[in-house]
Amino acid sequence: MTKPLVKEINGFEYMLYEKKTYEPAVALQHSRDYYQWLDRRRTVRDFSDRPVPRELIENLILSASSAPSGAHKQPWRFCAVSNPGIKKEIRKAAEKEEYESYHGRMSERWLKDLQALGTDWHKPFLEIAPWLIIVFKKAYEWGEKGEKTNNYYVNESVGLAAGFLLTAIHNAGLVALTHTPSPMNFLVKILNRPDNERPFLLIPVGYPAKDVYVPRLQRRPLEEISEFYE
Ligand SMILES: Cc1cc2nc3c(=O)[nH]c(=O)nc-3n(C[C@H](O)[C@H](O)[C@H](O)COP(=O)(O)O)c2cc1C
Repeated sequence: MTKPLVKEINGFEYMLYEKKTYEPAVALQHSRDYYQWLDRRRTVRDFSDRPVPRELIENLILSASSAPSGAHKQPWRFCAVSNPGIKKEIRKAAEKEEYESYHGRMSERWLKDLQALGTDWHKPFLEIAPWLIIVFKKAYEWGEKGEKTNNYYVNESVGLAAGFLLTAIHNAGLVALTHTPSPMNFLVKILNRPDNERPFLLIPVGYPAKDVYVPRLQRRPLEEISEFYE
C-alpha cells in the first residue's frame, strides 16, 4: 500500500519526507568533497563593483531562511541594499563607529589579534560591494492584540541562518565579509526598521576584486576542536 503524501497527526498536517541517502562509501566521499569545498570559503575584504542580479540575492536569502529556528519562529529579517545613497550613509556611520573602536574602544589584545587581518577603520567595501545584506534578529513579534510575544533561541537561530547565508554565497561563486561595525544601531535608523529588529551582522556580498589576497590562516586541527565518546 502506498503511503499518503500528507496525513494528520494530533490535528496537524504532516507530510512524507523523502530524504535521499547514500551507501557508506558514497556518503564518506560526499562528506570529504563538501568539507574540501567549504574549506575554500574565505572572508574577503576587497570587492569588485561588478553587479550581482537581485534574483540571485533573493535566492541567497531564501537559502538562509531555510535554516532551523527555535519553534520555527524564523526570527530574522534580511535587508538587501544596493542603493548607492544608502550604502554611502551606511559607510559613513560604520566608519564613525569603527574609528572610535580602533581609537580607544578595543583592547590592546584585540587590536593585536586584528593585525594579521590588516583591518582598520576605513570601510570602502561598504560602497564598492554591489550588495550589503544586513541580517536583523527579531527578539519578539507583536501578537494579535498588539502584545509582545518573545521568540525562542533568537541568537542561535539567526546565527544558523547567517551561516546558511555565507554557505549559499560561497556556492554562488561570490564572496562575503562578516562585518560587525559595533554598536550597529545606526542600521536601525538608516534602514528605518521597527523596534523589534536588532542588527546582527552586516554582510557585503559580491565578486572579489582582481588578484585579491587573504590572510594565510590555519584552521584548528580536528583533535583540537572535537572530542569523541565512542
Ligand atoms: C561574528 C563575526 C564578526 C566579524 N566581524 C568582522 C569585522 O567587523 N571586520 C572584519 O574585517 N572581519 C570580521 N569578521 C571576519 C573574521 O575576521 C574572519 O571570519 C576570520 O578572520 C576567519 O577568516 P575566514 O572567514 O576567511 O575563515 C567577523 C567574523 C565573525 C564570525
